[in-house]
Amino acid sequence: METDPVSYVIADRIAWVRFNRPEKRNCMSPALNRRMLEVLDQIEFREDVGVLVLSGEGSAWSAGMDLKEYFRETEAQGLGAIRRSQAEAYGWWRRLRWYQKPTIAMVNGWCFGGGYGPLFACDLAFAADEAKFGLSEINWGILPGGGASKVAVELLSLRDAMYHALTGEAIDGRKAAEWKLVNESVPLAQLEARVREVAEVLLQKNPVALKATKDAIRRVKEMTYDNAEDYLVRAQEAANSYGRHGRDEGLRQFIDDKTYKPGLAAYDR
Ligand code: ACO
Repeated sequence: METDPVSYVIADRIAWVRFNRPEKRNCMSPALNRRMLEVLDQIEFREDVGVLVLSGEGSAWSAGMDLKEYFRETEAQGLGAIRRSQAEAYGWWRRLRWYQKPTIAMVNGWCFGGGYGPLFACDLAFAADEAKFGLSEINWGILPGGGASKVAVELLSLRDAMYHALTGEAIDGRKAAEWKLVNESVPLAQLEARVREVAEVLLQKNPVALKATKDAIRRVKEMTYDNAEDYLVRAQEAANSYGRHGRDEGLRQFIDDKTYKPGLAAYDR
């Protein structure tokens, strides 16, 4: 029987989802992409999950697209198969970008090319110092497609993005943090503990506000100031209609009870 290309465990309201093809350095085959979408579907609205962490089994986070199964074998089946495979891959990354729960990429090892799609899709990213990141497309003769070029310019300075894409040189977790490709890098032995710590902070927050906030941060990046102002008023009003209780409670504990300060901590849920 074939091993499931995606594994997951739910514990203490955190869903630990892992690329699970360690012998292939977790590269993304069409089967993995289809399975990942199923897993994301299964977890998205579970009441017992507040945060999703995406990591990899073994020495890799993900070595990018499966050059054999995603490229060579799919291309041999013609344009229809190519477009289907692209839609499957891009589909789960898009789904992850707008996921209901906050998401954290826990980059434990290799992260190449197509891996930048899910890396960017996760709201936060923490890497091992030992991890290696690369836009390696240039090394085998293509451009960084599947959104990877867009991810590079969204997250890096133009100079760093250009250097990264043109040279195909891999950088380690520390450099990735310096370039802001990830939030932070820590020694591999501490990575899971650090991610758990951040997940626990998120678990204290109002889930309606978390979803509204993560969407707002992504959406306003592409808006003019006036459009952003308008969007944010409407997004808050929409969130009020199904998250009213949380907001009212947050106001009450600050203004009436004086039990916390929103500038310093979250209200007691
Ligand atoms: N596509 C297909 N197979 C892969 C991929 C990949 N992206 N990455 C690793 N594998 C396979 C190898 O072919 C090998 O298979 P085999 O055991 O059947 O021979 C197995 O995974 C293990 O790989 P090794 O190279 O032996 O592992 P090692 O730990 O020495 O090196 C490394 C890891 C550096 C990640 C190396 O595998 C590599 O360079 N992979 C390709 C990375 C890459 O450039 N990906 C494409 C990015 S571009 C894009 O995604 C569009």
